[in-house]
Amino acid sequence: HENNIKNLYRIHEMAQAFFHNCLTKTSYGKPGLLYLKKRGINNDIINLFHLGFAPPGWDKLSSAFIKRGINENLLLQVGLIVKKKTSGYYDRFRERIIIPIKDEKGRTVGFGARLIKDGQPKYLNSPETLLFNKRNLLFGLNESKKYIRQYDYAIIVEGYMDAIALASHNIANSVASLGTAFTAEQCKKILRYTSNIYFCYDGDSAGQNATLRALSIARGQHAAVKVILLPDGSKDPDEFLQKHDAAAFNKLIDNAVSFIDFHLHYIMQNIDYTSLEGKLKAVSFILPILSSIDNLVESNAYAVKVSQTLGIDETDLRNELQKYRKHSN
Ligand code: UTP
Ligand code: MN
Ligand code: MN
Ligand code: MN
Ligand code: MN
Repeated sequence: HENNIKNLYRIHEMAQAFFHNCLTKTSYGKPGLLYLKKRGINNDIINLFHLGFAPPGWDKLSSAFIKRGINENLLLQVGLIVKKKTSGYYDRFRERIIIPIKDEKGRTVGFGARLIKDGQPKYLNSPETLLFNKRNLLFGLNESKKYIRQYDYAIIVEGYMDAIALASHNIANSVASLGTAFTAEQCKKILRYTSNIYFCYDGDSAGQNATLRALSIARGQHAAVKVILLPDGSKDPDEFLQKHDAAAFNKLIDNAVSFIDFHLHYIMQNIDYTSLEGKLKAVSFILPILSSIDNLVESNAYAVKVSQTLGIDETDLRNELQKYRKHSN
C-alpha cells in the first residue's frame, strides 16, 4: 500500500514534467503556448503553476512511459491512459492544456485539461484516485496559501483559468474549487490560513446558485463571507481581467457585498417582487437566511433593509421572522 502511494505520487510528478516539457520545449507544444499567450498567460505563470500541454496522438505519453518501465496498470489507475473496448489503451489527455492540481505540499495529485479548440468536453479531469479527491482539494492553494495568510482573506473562484488570471494580475490569494460545489472540507482547508472568504463565482445562474450554496457551507464553518459581484458583460473573473486591469478588480473586491446583500441581489435578479406573489416568494426565500443570523441586532438591521428593498411593511416582516424562528426551533 505504502509503495503504491509512493508510485502514485511519482507517476504524477513524471507526467507533470512530461506535459510541461512538451509545452515549453517541443514543437508539439507550440499550439498550446500560442493558446496560453492569447489568454494573457506568460512564462512566469506557466512556470508557477507548472502548466503543460498534452501532445496530439493516441500514445505519446503511454509509449514514452512504458519505455521507461512504468507499469501500465499504474497508468490506468491514475487515468493517464484509458482501456480500449477491444484491446490495448490510449492516452486520456490529447491536444489539451494541462493544469496540474497539487495538494498543499505542492505534490501533483491530478490534472485538469482544457481543449485549445472549440469542442466537448471543454475540460477533462483525472478520475478520483487515492490521491485525487476533489472534495478535499483546491486548485492553486499551494501557490496562494502564503498570500491568503498575508492578506488575511481568500478569493474562491469557479475555474482554473480564473485563479490563473488573478495570479497573472498579481492578485495571488485565490483558489478554484475544481468544478464541484464548494465543500466543508475545502472550507476547512482555507480556514487554516484565514477566516475571511470572498466568493467570486461566474455571474450566470449556475454560478449564482453555487454561490448561495457555498455561502451556506462557509457560514456553517463559521467563516466570515463576502461576495465579489462582477459587472454585467463579464461572465467570470478571467473575462473581467481580459477587459480591465488589476486595479479595477481590486475595486470589485472593495465593493464586495455581505451575505445578506448577495441574497437581496439574487432576489432582484431572479424574482419579480413587484407583484404580491413575487413578494411572498422573496420573503419565503429570505426568512431562513435572516433567521440564520444569530445576532438579533444584526438580523433586525437586515430586516429593515430587506423590507425597504422589497417594499413591504417592516413590522410584518419582523412578525413573519418571529413566526419562522418559532417554527424552525
Ligand atoms: P466554466 O465552464 O466556467 O469554465 O467551468 P471556465 O473556467 O470559465 O473555462 P474557460 O475560461 O472557458 O477556459 C468552471 C470549472 O468547471 C470545471 C473546471 O474546473 C472549470 O474550470 N469544468 C468545466 C469541468 O471540469 N469540465 C467542463 O467540461 C467544464
Ligand atoms: Mn461556469
Ligand atoms: Mn467560467
Ligand atoms: Mn472562463
Ligand atoms: Mn487585464
